[in-house]
Amino acid sequence: VKQGVLLYAGKAKQVFSTDDPELLWVYYLDQATALNGKKKVAIDGKGTLNLHISGLLFKELAATGFPTHFVTDMDNQNMLVRRAKMIPLEVVVRNRASGHFVSRFNVTPLRVLDPAIHEFYYKSDALDDPFMNDEQIVALGIAPRATLDTLRTMADQVNTWLTARWARAGIELVDFKLEFGRLADGTLVLADELSPDNMRLIDAQTHASLDKDVFRQDEGPLVPVYAEVLRRLQATQQEV
Ligand code: C5P
Repeated sequence: VKQGVLLYAGKAKQVFSTDDPELLWVYYLDQATALNGKKKVAIDGKGTLNLHISGLLFKELAATGFPTHFVTDMDNQNMLVRRAKMIPLEVVVRNRASGHFVSRFNVTPLRVLDPAIHEFYYKSDALDDPFMNDEQIVALGIAPRATLDTLRTMADQVNTWLTARWARAGIELVDFKLEFGRLADGTLVLADELSPDNMRLIDAQTHASLDKDVFRQDEGPLVPVYAEVLRRLQATQQEV
């Protein structure tokens, strides 16, 4: 497969076309952003770590039969994925209070949330990714209700699998964000990435942050933390 033209430049990844109309080429950038891009720093080695973490999780999740866009990782910073038409929603699932949930409701950080909470955010840099409820999403034609139900079900399935997977690595899954798209044949697939940029992870024993919060809160260098996360994943990998 040959790399084509740049289609989309994101904050942590770039997406290129390929000579195969069904495949896209994703380049994981050595860059971290926070505050919706207002804080942006180059971090050597981050792209490679995120590619390996994301690739490993996508591979294992796909092996359970869950539909994803993942095809293969090609080298240290590039991944091939199936072309999907993205649904412009961020699907957030929270198992424990953190981040915006804590600031919005003034609750104790890491308070357990039962049931797990789903939130949808409209993907729009211009609008700063506003929260949307179901009726807002349906009435504005962003997704029909049946699709929202499916997204919730799929997000729950990912939560169940991912929670258990991180637990094997001595890590607790606090919250995460997913994005979905549709393949040309209409199949809904999990897209985007599965990395510590998009989820909050804490050490199961110490509750130390093992994700982008380290960068958001200036708690020290990010690369050793992501490297530790990858090391633990690899150490607990099962043959797929
Ligand atoms: O900021 P907030 O508390 O709403 O984030 C919830 C979860 O969603 C976190 O794991 C965060 O990393 C992820 N997230 C994301 N991209 C965004 C917003 C949140 O990956 N634009």
